[in-house]
Amino acid sequence: MLKATDVFLDMLTDSGVNAMSDRQLAAMITAQDAYAGSKAFYEFAEVVEEVLGFKYVIPVHQGRAAEHLLAKVFVREGSIVPMNYHFTTTKAHIELAGGTIVEIPVKEALDVKSRHPFKGNIDVAALEEVLKRDRDRVAYVRIEAVANLLGGQPVSMKNIAEVRALCDKFGVPLVLDGSMVDWNVYFIKEREPGYGSKKLSDILKEFVSYADIFYMSARKAPSVRGGFIATNRREFYEKLVVHIPVYEGFITYGGMSIKEIAAMAVGLREMIDDDLVGSELELIKYVVEELDKKGVPVVLPPGGLGVHVDATQFLSHVSRSAYPAGSLAAALYLASGIRSMERGAMSMDRDKSGREVYPDLELIRIAFPRRTYLKSHADYLIDRLLWLYNHRDIVNGLRWVYEPPVLRFFLGRLEDIDNWGEKLVKVYKKELGDL
Ligand code: F0G
Repeated sequence: MLKATDVFLDMLTDSGVNAMSDRQLAAMITAQDAYAGSKAFYEFAEVVEEVLGFKYVIPVHQGRAAEHLLAKVFVREGSIVPMNYHFTTTKAHIELAGGTIVEIPVKEALDVKSRHPFKGNIDVAALEEVLKRDRDRVAYVRIEAVANLLGGQPVSMKNIAEVRALCDKFGVPLVLDGSMVDWNVYFIKEREPGYGSKKLSDILKEFVSYADIFYMSARKAPSVRGGFIATNRREFYEKLVVHIPVYEGFITYGGMSIKEIAAMAVGLREMIDDDLVGSELELIKYVVEELDKKGVPVVLPPGGLGVHVDATQFLSHVSRSAYPAGSLAAALYLASGIRSMERGAMSMDRDKSGREVYPDLELIRIAFPRRTYLKSHADYLIDRLLWLYNHRDIVNGLRWVYEPPVLRFFLGRLEDIDNWGEKLVKVYKKELGDL
């Protein structure tokens, strides 16, 4: 709920805040605006086929709109959706449609210290079990490329191929959330044997070819504000597209501005430009390695999206019911003016009987939006996190003042237990001055 003018470095998210390129901005100016049938849409559809290999594309206003439509079409009361890991909005839409998520990441995913190169992988044996037991309830299998809430961890080519083979064997669709597929592809090139000398564009095409349905929040990889669903399966396209005029707008703009559609086409090409992709990942790697050397508990190996700090270790004296990750995000802001994001219990909602649901990980995410921050920003972040780590005993927990019933982390309000915020600021001023 902070005002952006009160933030020094905004590392809340990479969503909708990546810097757009000159070519994207230029495309916005020349886009042909029309309610229906804009040239910009058809050009975008061509780029989707060229870059991703999908014939049918449906624009939507952002990623969660794609999730809404997928849940509406595929999920019924009692359905289950096995996946590597959920994202908040994904889970909300599946549950609102009457379904349940089944998370089956590889076991290393939940061990923040494990340096497994692909902690976003699905546990294939566990998936086979679910499909054997409950095949008729499975709406679809979902893979999130760079699993957000696992600390930005990627999925390997081998894993998606194995998941696809199982989906074929049991006759269920595979849905790929490719919001951060640019970073996933970069990690495959860097970490997976046999891909080091391949072009990102070729790795991307191979990776997404395993999916029956691909969707993305285009606020991420393509650096615009929008989203889309793409597929080669005409029957899926037809089932989904009929909902567009009801929920999003006409099928050639899907709730987006035409200007953003034109910029999205450019962004899709740029997101796999070998000279451009990965600069944020290298900065994230630098920060994670530095913090790890100094003993600050970070998620390893360095992933995509941002630096993820393990709040249960950082604030081991704060109980989980007092939200260590929320407390750490608040403390980091006080000590640096950096806005980060709680990714722990607060990002979950209570269960039906009002009990807290504690997720496997309790993290803060310090995001690196694309093409935005430089090494000096990274150094400042390291400096302040180290200062805070040395003063972590001052930080205590948080409690709700106002707690909304759904996606509570967006609009909820909290207070610091025992006024620790003021105490922290006092020590800060004494040691570092009144900035
Ligand atoms: N899927 C993933 C993996 C996401 O990270 C997001 C959004 C969405 C779907 C929903 O897309 O915001 O365009 O409606 N992630 C943002 C974040 C909000 O900060 O990580 P959306």
